[in-house]
Amino acid sequence: MAVSLVVPGVRSVPVVEEQASCVPEEGTGAYDLLRRYGVTPQRQPEIPREYFKMPQDEREARTWEYRRQLGDRLVILGHHYQREEVVQFADFRGDSYKLSQQAASRSEADFILFCGVHFMAESADILRKPHQQVILPNLSAGCSMADMAKIGDVVDAWESLHDLGIDGIVPITYMNSAASLKSFTGENGGIVCTSSNAAKTFDWAFERGERILFFPDEHLGRNTGVKKGIPLDKMVVWDPFKPLGGNTPEQLQNATLILWKGFCSVHARFSVEQIEQARRDDPNVNVIVHPECRLEVVQAADMDGSTEFIIDTIRNAPDGTNWAVGTEINLVKRLAMEQPGKTITCLDPVICPCSTMYRVHPAYVLWALEHLAKGEVVNRISVDEETKRWSLVALERMLSVA
Ligand code: 13P
Ligand code: SF4
Repeated sequence: MAVSLVVPGVRSVPVVEEQASCVPEEGTGAYDLLRRYGVTPQRQPEIPREYFKMPQDEREARTWEYRRQLGDRLVILGHHYQREEVVQFADFRGDSYKLSQQAASRSEADFILFCGVHFMAESADILRKPHQQVILPNLSAGCSMADMAKIGDVVDAWESLHDLGIDGIVPITYMNSAASLKSFTGENGGIVCTSSNAAKTFDWAFERGERILFFPDEHLGRNTGVKKGIPLDKMVVWDPFKPLGGNTPEQLQNATLILWKGFCSVHARFSVEQIEQARRDDPNVNVIVHPECRLEVVQAADMDGSTEFIIDTIRNAPDGTNWAVGTEINLVKRLAMEQPGKTITCLDPVICPCSTMYRVHPAYVLWALEHLAKGEVVNRISVDEETKRWSLVALERMLSVA
């Protein structure tokens, strides 16, 4: 049942009793946008209910047993936003960048089980060795931000810009995008970035052109542009529902950075009011946020960076320090558990996990491993060869600059 929470200085926000039913896409309007796009997320076929109903300790014991049987033939990668009950099985944890490095280098394993979301498993499939197979435990674990840029719309934008005679544009796609967009980027002289290397990919792009078309995250693009000294009046937003993205030809001619209108529904929830409240509650608090947050939130915070940066910064801070963190709750909770000498809280009073990351329930992990132990691959993620060719170019460019 939904109730309302009123925190001084913070607008009234819905609170739900069960954490699993707190869906950031509803609060931020992402679902409305995706409906306009006509996006139908991939569906996971039902798996037997017994995997969900069995006691947690039995499920964990069986999962560990299959994991042991599969030995070095299997590597499990886990993103930091995965829940504890899942990430415990990961051989490697990381942010998107670290996990893509792992996917490219774990050549001894035949199978890569990716506990993360669809675009991450696709990237692993692009980077894997020929004998390897990539598995995503739940096929419906997508990413609403990745779904906000569709290849047809990006190609239309690219052609409209060229029709206006605007040259020297280098496309950069955030890792959080479909393989088709990575392929488009590779084929058109561009590069992939993650939140930990976006600034370096901007340098790479400006060595090759005068402007950047950045998709799908408007906010990471703008935050990186500001860090690179690009004035805000040299940035425009491209709304795929409007002619010329909602811009005049002159605005586009003048732009150094063209930002796709897309966002992360988890990070879009963080606000300046939440930061002000955190500072009223504790004047000594350090505020650290992810660069998928809006510019005003990043500017109001004490620091910002990728999930890996957030982890390193808090781990290296002395005991007795206090942290208000603007990123996904599973990571914040894990940090708080691992660092008992520090006070670590989430900036958002409504504690919402990334709803798509959360779809990787431990039941799917057991189901996938049980089949694998019997020699059956379920939920294989397979990018077609043509898409792979250019996506690999764009991903390898990223791995070489960072
Ligand atoms: P990083 O893993 O690059 O920090 O990105 C966060 C994220 O939103 C992943 O989906
Ligand atoms: Fe996508 Fe945001 Fe979830 Fe990352 S945290 S998977 S960007 S919705």
